[in-house]
Amino acid sequence: MSPRLRGPVVAVLLAAIAFAGCAQPSHRTAAQLGGDPERGAVLMVREACGACHVIPGIQEAHGEVGPPLTGFARRTMIAGLLPNTPPNLARWILTPQAIVPGNAMPDIELSPREAADMAAYLETLN
Ligand code: HEC
Repeated sequence: MSPRLRGPVVAVLLAAIAFAGCAQPSHRTAAQLGGDPERGAVLMVREACGACHVIPGIQEAHGEVGPPLTGFARRTMIAGLLPNTPPNLARWILTPQAIVPGNAMPDIELSPREAADMAAYLETLN
């Protein structure tokens, strides 16, 4: 490639890479998810989160008490209040009553690890 072309070609390639990165802002690596999504899915069935929520990929999760968790990774805010990051989501799952007192989602007895795994699953939903 001629040196005259190399600059523009590199610029276009870098722009393409940057665009590919931005096209899916909600795609997170395993480390960024902060937990194990597969375990999270199993736990959400066990804890019957689906009694109150529609959750794609979770058996029997057709509840309509709370908002549908469809495409949750694309969501900007959790409960309209917390920025949607995996640690904030785990915090919400662990202590929703401390965050929005009196809302219909109960504090469920979970370990921080379990909440992080559930958050990791929800953060894979695009
Ligand atoms: C008894 C019903 C009920 C159960 C059980 C329940 N939730 Fe919720 N959930 C709600 C309600 C109601 C809200 C809305 C709270 C608010 O916005 O103040 C909510 C909100 C949420 C949100 C934030 C949604 C948003 O749109 O920002 C997430 C995430 C969530 N729940 C996950 C879970 C998980 C995971 C479980 C199981 C461990 C669970 N919920 C169990 C009722 C429930």
